[in-house]
Amino acid sequence: MSNFIKYIENFNLQDNSLFFDNDKYSTRIENFKYNGFSIPKYINEFWTSKQRQANSLHEVSYRACFKPQLPRFFIEGLTEEKDTVYDPFSGRGTSALEASLLNRKAIANDINPLSLILLKPRLNPPTISEINKRLNEIIFSYNLTSDIDLSMFYDENTLSELVSLKNYLIEKKDNNTEDEVDDWIRMVATNRLTGHSKGFFSVFTLPPNQAVSQKSQIRINEKRQQTPDYRNIKKLILGKSKQLLSGINTNTRKMLSENYNSSLLLNLDARDTPQIKDNSISLTVTSPPFLDLVQYANDNWLRLWFNNLNADEIARNIVMAKTEEQWHNFIFDVFKELFRITKPNAYIAFEVGDLKNGKVKLDEIVVSIGIEVGLKCLGIIINEQVFTKTSNIWGVKNNHKGTNTNRIVIFQKGS
Ligand SMILES: C[S@@+](CC[C@H](N)C(=O)[O-])C[C@H]1O[C@@H](n2cnc3c(N)ncnc32)[C@H](O)[C@@H]1O
Repeated sequence: MSNFIKYIENFNLQDNSLFFDNDKYSTRIENFKYNGFSIPKYINEFWTSKQRQANSLHEVSYRACFKPQLPRFFIEGLTEEKDTVYDPFSGRGTSALEASLLNRKAIANDINPLSLILLKPRLNPPTISEINKRLNEIIFSYNLTSDIDLSMFYDENTLSELVSLKNYLIEKKDNNTEDEVDDWIRMVATNRLTGHSKGFFSVFTLPPNQAVSQKSQIRINEKRQQTPDYRNIKKLILGKSKQLLSGINTNTRKMLSENYNSSLLLNLDARDTPQIKDNSISLTVTSPPFLDLVQYANDNWLRLWFNNLNADEIARNIVMAKTEEQWHNFIFDVFKELFRITKPNAYIAFEVGDLKNGKVKLDEIVVSIGIEVGLKCLGIIINEQVFTKTSNIWGVKNNHKGTNTNRIVIFQKGS
């Protein structure tokens, strides 16, 4: 049996937030039968956000992102330094960034180009003085309007600054002169477009990780009797940059930069990734789209507008599996590709949420797919956590125990 599974079985939660104070809580094991195989489900609170704070660099929002503690648990348990960690559905890049912070090589892929916009600059961040210098060089005009009506989000000077920045970045890209500092500014600005505090460019809006429609924002403004006030875009970008970089010292920066040079960042369909070599990945740690729960392109309409990207075009490329059968077929093709690229004896940790209060058992569908493509299923790890605000983002309901659950199916490729 793998050491990792022994560790899971013997895991005793010390810092217990779910059960009684200082009581040790041992892993509960339940078995589920699949085609004559008995698959263990290991249930415990394996990680909490309290255990070890995530690095500040992770703090950008994205629809349906997972917490850095999730990939960290598997990266630390299943790989060594300099091994290669892959995420085929990278989103904001939580797995790739955590891998790089743990001195692993990262490969990240996502069909939505927004994903790399958010991830790439954080894998090799510039310094605050470089960011400050660049911001001061960018010239803002105060007579520009946007091609779509954004007056419900921004006051007219803020909007003119935003359009100036958008045009600056378009020009740099068109001239092929965009560098790491511009990429960083693009990433932070994308992240600051809308939100609920004075730290964002927009008037108050919710939620922070996607913009509501223009009509909905007009309704929010009416209800709250608010009009957008001026926000200083350069100041807010610098402030957020300082916060993101607060956990990075010289050594971490050097390590990140070295790992960045050996990373591979892709914008492909996860089913077909020819750039990734056969038998090259030590661990895949990922979370796929769950049926058609999140509209990854349309929900990101404002972020895509700022980055001059076409939401309809991106939406056409994103698989929206409406039924369990469509989802099965899509994930089956992803697994064939994962089998090809995984090293002999290496691992896949595939996270699915708790859908429709546990009525749709995506974890069990994933078990069947993995076994079908020839992988060995080591079990399903169920992390039960106290419910937190962010866990409701993608519609997962607080389950009856008042917890938030991650289900991760673990596979190993044979030798
Ligand atoms: C649940 S999110 C991943 C979130 C990620 N774990 C994070 O922490 O940000 C799923 C991602 O899959 C991407 N996606 C959807 N269909 C895809 C496909 N066919 N190939 C690659 N990526 C895809 C979406 O754009 C979305 O970013």
